[in-house]
Amino acid sequence: MRPAGVVLAAGKGVRMGSALPKVLHEVAGVPMVSHVVGALRAGGIGDVVVVAGHGAAQVRQALSGEKGVRFALQRRQRGTADALACARAALGGARRPIVVACGDAPLVRAETVRALLSARRASGAYAVVGTLEVADPAGYGRVVREPDGQVFRIVEEREATEEERRLREVNSGLYAFRSPEVFADLRQIRPSAVRKELYLTEAVRIARSRGERVEALRAEDPAELLGVNTPVELSFADRAMRQRVAAVHLAAGVRIADAGLVSIDAGVSIGAGTVIFPFTVIRRGVRIGRGCQVGPFAHLRGATVLADGAEIGNFVEVKAGRIGPGTKAKHLAYLGDVTIGRGANIGAGTIVANYDGKRKWPTVIGDRAFVGSGAILVAPVRVGKAALVGAGAVVTRGRNVPPGGVVAGVPARPLKKRPS
Ligand code: UD1
Ligand code: CA
Repeated sequence: MRPAGVVLAAGKGVRMGSALPKVLHEVAGVPMVSHVVGALRAGGIGDVVVVAGHGAAQVRQALSGEKGVRFALQRRQRGTADALACARAALGGARRPIVVACGDAPLVRAETVRALLSARRASGAYAVVGTLEVADPAGYGRVVREPDGQVFRIVEEREATEEERRLREVNSGLYAFRSPEVFADLRQIRPSAVRKELYLTEAVRIARSRGERVEALRAEDPAELLGVNTPVELSFADRAMRQRVAAVHLAAGVRIADAGLVSIDAGVSIGAGTVIFPFTVIRRGVRIGRGCQVGPFAHLRGATVLADGAEIGNFVEVKAGRIGPGTKAKHLAYLGDVTIGRGANIGAGTIVANYDGKRKWPTVIGDRAFVGSGAILVAPVRVGKAALVGAGAVVTRGRNVPPGGVVAGVPARPLKKRPS
């Protein structure tokens, strides 16, 4: 049977110092837990059970769009073993491997999930533990191996001896287990000595004492299995994910000038031949066509769509905008809730005043329209095809400019003759 996945995501995340449930903190614009669910699904797992607890309603809400996800509730956070036990009913009793991941380890890749599953299948082991070799193992469970390489046990820092603390191979919190056996073992786990928590890592010791095999799979890139417990680690994970995102775009033919200086969220699409200049911020859900130019210092957000060949220049913010093919807004503009046709020109300093203090209103600008520098368009308003708005004009709410029309002044009024 196809393997199932469990994401442990009920913890509070005290060390983040924030009211937001830890797993909802964003990495590259996407909640950590969504990255983990995405990696499991892409790694060949059909069914994923997310164990929520702290802020469960928010966690559910954040994942409401994801396919193949079900939820289990852990009312009290009694430890990772208890969290996994809570997923049992949602998984059903079927015989199939399960991959357990932590909702606070967002950099895990689908390839690693696959590697873990195939290592388990190949060895027939009870469990395969994803491990990493780190320079500073502080905070992680240490992996104690036997002479034959099998995992003997995993010991949490608080309970570790001096000698064990020096081990630099640590538990990533990503495992493949044989199921449903693991659930029977969970029942035998007793509260830990120091924290009185039910540690999932104890399942390893219990299975070993019964003579089961437990293997370890060491990640090639240790950063991939980094757990996020503090704002410092969150920032590190965010940067690592953005680098990964940029690398994917670069490989697909997007040109990114000085890739370390642009900030592209996960879940952005960019066509080949587009150039992104430094200090540009592109948020989740934005779609950019081919052959566009964006930045330097541009900000695209709110599911903005740039058609092929559009150019968005420095200090231009576009929010929920649809920008037509070849349309340019090159300098100092705010374009919120706009739909702009093809070949239009938006002059330097143009502001679309989309918010009246209560709600946001749309603005529509036709093909080949020319909006002069420093114009203000007060939404809702339309500027027709090939219309011209004079520099510094204030086009007031609802005073639509007809196709081919020319307006100027404050408030903007029609001019009879088109200036030559
Ligand atoms: C855990 C591992 C440790 C490993 C590290 C990797 C245990 C006992 N320890 O430690 O060996 O090196 O991860 O990052 O498993 N959670 C629940 N319910 C709970 C407790 C935790 O859902 O009752 C969730 C948390 O939301 C989190 C994950 O489980 O996503 C890990 O919990 P956390 O408290 O961060 O464990 P660590 O101390 O990091
Ligand atoms: Ca953790």
